[in-house]
Amino acid sequence: MKIGIIGLGHVGSTVAYTLLLENLVDELVLIDTNLDKLNAEILEMQDVSQNLARNVRISPAPVINDPLGAPGKKTLVEPDYTLLADADFAIFSAADLSRLEMTDRLGELPITSEIVEEVAPKLKDSGFSGVVLSVSNPCDVIAQYLRQQTGFPASKVIGTGTLLDTNRLKNRTGRQDVLMVGEHGESQTAVNQVSDELAQQARLSGWNIFTVKRYTNFGIASCVARILRAMRNDDGEELPISTYDPEADAYYSVLATLGRDGVISRRCPDITETEQIGLDRSVKKIKDVYATR
Ligand SMILES: NC(=O)c1ccc[n+]([C@@H]2O[C@H](COP(=O)([O-])OP(=O)(O)OC[C@H]3O[C@@H](n4cnc5c(N)ncnc54)[C@H](O)[C@@H]3O)[C@@H](O)[C@H]2O)c1
Repeated sequence: MKIGIIGLGHVGSTVAYTLLLENLVDELVLIDTNLDKLNAEILEMQDVSQNLARNVRISPAPVINDPLGAPGKKTLVEPDYTLLADADFAIFSAADLSRLEMTDRLGELPITSEIVEEVAPKLKDSGFSGVVLSVSNPCDVIAQYLRQQTGFPASKVIGTGTLLDTNRLKNRTGRQDVLMVGEHGESQTAVNQVSDELAQQARLSGWNIFTVKRYTNFGIASCVARILRAMRNDDGEELPISTYDPEADAYYSVLATLGRDGVISRRCPDITETEQIGLDRSVKKIKDVYATR
């Protein structure tokens, strides 16, 4: 599979590393506006690729400078969207967390929206016709904005959604039969008779990581790998990821079945009346936020 990653911060670079180790990629295209970082990550991933059992191409080719040479003498690698023309997947993990004091994923909306407006035309003009997997926050709103700005079919633009939140809920409850649905954010709703206390612990557990590290990376990178594996295997596995509901005209997480071309089907799991109220509230919140964009 040929996979592009747009945005090589904590998340994007860990996704690149994870995809290489999990043998999910034959060619990796890396893109970032921070050119020093882009070059450095290409060099790192090339180093990783030498330990793999098969050849993986890392693009574009890096520039080798004398890092200790005179300042201003440096040549920089350029991001190249044309390399995505025949890519199967593009992962969107661009952001600028340095510009805000985060207490809610929604705080990222103005900045990430600007980035979407810059990236979407380039992605479209590249001739890319694969599936976009959006990670950047606020995840559901950004997935919808990416779809709107690219004009790609809804089945080909998805968000990582509540897969990570579901993993956190499984960890907090010690159960495998639980699920988070709705927003990847504060209004996410626990399904299958979970106590309010454990649901809240799961909701907060991302912040327990973020307030110490100032980023989260491993959990989300493994979710991206899992989603790509499901698409490659096309074996009917259902995952809680953010997909488009035409009735609500919104992206949010319920269960989706994925294939190489994106979403095959989506369905709401069996839920109680109270859980349904929580899900409806969550969808309304996503729609309200999308409208303020
Ligand atoms: N959906 C989830 O479950 C989940 C989990 C963790 C993080 N996130 C989100 O993922 C995003 C990335 O987080 P991070 O910690 O890697 O951030 P980061 O600040 O470390 O990295 C962001 C990267 O994007 C690059 N970038 C900025 N503008 C760009 C542009 N126009 N084109 C290409 N690249 C550009 C930056 O140079 C930087 O390298 C954030 O929005 C974060 O909230 C989502």
